Amino acid sequence: MKVYSNISQLLTLSGAHAKDGRKLVDSDLSLIENASIVVDDELIHWVGKTEDLPEDYKKIPTTNLSGHIVTPEIVDSHTHLVFGGNRSFEYGLRLKGATYEEIATAGGGILHTADKTAHLSEEELFKTACARIERINSYGVGTIEIKSGYGLNFEAEYKISKAINKLKEHFQPRIKIVRTYMAAHAVPKSFLSSQQFIDELVIPLMEKLQSEDLIDIVDIFHEKNYFTDEDTRKLFTKAQGLGLKVKMHADEMNDNNGAAIAAEFSALSADHLLQVSDAGIRALAASPTVATILPGTALFLGKPLAPARNMIDAGVKLAIASDYNPGSCHCDNLILLTSISAKNLGLTPVEIWAGITLNAAHALGLYEQGAIIAGHRPRLSVFKASTHEEIFYSWGRNLSVKI
Ligand code: NIG
Ligand code: FE
Repeated sequence: MKVYSNISQLLTLSGAHAKDGRKLVDSDLSLIENASIVVDDELIHWVGKTEDLPEDYKKIPTTNLSGHIVTPEIVDSHTHLVFGGNRSFEYGLRLKGATYEEIATAGGGILHTADKTAHLSEEELFKTACARIERINSYGVGTIEIKSGYGLNFEAEYKISKAINKLKEHFQPRIKIVRTYMAAHAVPKSFLSSQQFIDELVIPLMEKLQSEDLIDIVDIFHEKNYFTDEDTRKLFTKAQGLGLKVKMHADEMNDNNGAAIAAEFSALSADHLLQVSDAGIRALAASPTVATILPGTALFLGKPLAPARNMIDAGVKLAIASDYNPGSCHCDNLILLTSISAKNLGLTPVEIWAGITLNAAHALGLYEQGAIIAGHRPRLSVFKASTHEEIFYSWGRNLSVKI
């Protein structure tokens, strides 16, 4: 048992939790000043003001967190961090006017990274990813989703999924890794159609990985020139039949009715949503599906940000993630990305905090974290700051500390 006392500000988000992360007001931060929490390795036992700490807990040695802010653990619910090479050359082309779609059509993009990734062994992928995970964790992010998807053939996707599983085992419990299978990322040239790729590779490999307990969630790039409505419905139906959760890249480059399809399957999340329609927003609001926005990708691609304010006002549950990948967002720092985009997204502090903690945890199906409540998991982030606003006010400075 451990006691943390004199926490300058403890953001419990218990109010946000009670409202399922929707339509939040300032008081849903459920902020306690000069707070204490009592935890063991598995559970949060007590939360309150330091002066109200029950007698029994006073005998336990305490860590003094005066001058610190404690929040539910920051979750990055969308990354593609297992990859080889980099695409700085493409970034140069984009700065000179080429679009992401033009570069991809000319054979760059995801297919380029797949080629570089193919040359790395499982061990090399594991090692490079370990360094990336440690860096992400240094910002205060303790739960990280990782997608496969730069394999695009049976052996390479299998190798990447095993590397992700090894990362999960290696880092638990300090860092929680969630394993997402995204072979449906792009159609390799050796297949005639996305349909053939789904039928002959994506679904059979998903079945094998599920039987070996190597994956938690299934994702697909539902987008023009990538995967269709039919591909998505077929993959999701099979995945859910196997007991896997689903999420999707939806309405990123075009409005493809992706949000509505995600809602139809009660997907954990629909991600990107730069082009989501009003009908798509209404479908998300009426569903359990989290809308995950990835502001770094919009900034990196030079596109307008997702309509976060409209979604929140419509009653959508909104999360924010990095999308860290070599092509469309080569930035791994979720706190920085959130800081520089929050004002233009129209987000309030409580919406920011719920977006990177509670709602992001729900976007991964993790319902026992994301709020600091007795009985929940003791997954916390700690910052050396005098107010919680200081964390988003200090652009690009890392205030996270380990306790
Ligand atoms: O989320 N949209 C698909 N996947 C990534 C891009 C990956 C890449 O360009 O390598 C994304 O934006
Ligand atoms: Fe992505």
